[in-house]
Amino acid sequence: MKRLNDRTVVVTGGASGIGAATSRRLASEGAAVIILDHDADRAATVVGELQSGGTTASFLQVDLSNRDAIREVGAQVRSQAPVLHGLVNNAGIIRATPLEQLDDANWDSQIAINLTAPAWIVRELLPSLQAGPGSIVNISSEGAFRPRPLNAAYDASKGGVLGLTGSLAAELAPHGIRVNSIAPGWIASEMHFGTGPDADARKAALLSQEYPLTLMNRLGRPDEIAAVIAFLISDDASYITGSCLHVDGGQGLG
Ligand SMILES: NC(=O)c1ccc[n+]([C@@H]2O[C@H](COP(=O)([O-])OP(=O)(O)OC[C@H]3O[C@@H](n4cnc5c(N)ncnc54)[C@H](O)[C@@H]3O)[C@@H](O)[C@H]2O)c1
Repeated sequence: MKRLNDRTVVVTGGASGIGAATSRRLASEGAAVIILDHDADRAATVVGELQSGGTTASFLQVDLSNRDAIREVGAQVRSQAPVLHGLVNNAGIIRATPLEQLDDANWDSQIAINLTAPAWIVRELLPSLQAGPGSIVNISSEGAFRPRPLNAAYDASKGGVLGLTGSLAAELAPHGIRVNSIAPGWIASEMHFGTGPDADARKAALLSQEYPLTLMNRLGRPDEIAAVIAFLISDDASYITGSCLHVDGGQGLG
């Protein structure tokens, strides 16, 4: 009997990076997975892979910066999955920019995708999450704890995720819904190697480089975040809510 058998979990941003690793990990533990993403090609690849392995997996395309689109996809998910056991609010973007060049569109998109969308998705999926009851995992960042230059919008959005997590944990506890966040350190994901000319070389370089800001002197891998997400979704975390788990190789002490 696998830990997540007969569970259905929604993963936003499941088409790449941490979200794809999470979708694979949840599936390997027995869960059915519904991916919400705007990248149809990459999502189709992940869903195809999961289905080939025998997992019930599907993909709904949505631009999470668009509130009307969130309402529409919410209705689709509620109809497809009237009972949900988990939601991973993982989709996110980072657009490092000096403050003088930080325009409205840049600020608004980072806040909309990283902070507003997780709140709106929870609101839309609440009936299904209550029926589960579901466990919610929001992806914050070490940037919320150790903000850096050029990342005002990103770090503010990820700090907001911590407040959102605590507030929702308090509000939804009477429904049996646990709400936690994870603060990953620097993880070698498509966010950092996907857009360059030679993604594979960049990925290999990232994974081999030393990272002395961490006690472990290396970057993390998406599957190392996925493992902790699966734990928080599962009943093994039944007495954890309102928490933030730091998955950062000891960055706070490095
Ligand atoms: N990689 C890191 O170092 C790191 C560190 C801390 C936190 N995080 C957080 O982890 C999460 C996942 O990041 P990742 O590294 O896997 O990045 P990634 O770029 O590999 O994946 C992000 C996913 O979100 C999706 N997405 C982006 N904008 C969207 C939109 N408007 N609508 C729908 N989907 C959208 C993308 O298509 C992609 O599948 C993010 O919230 C990120 O902020 C990442």
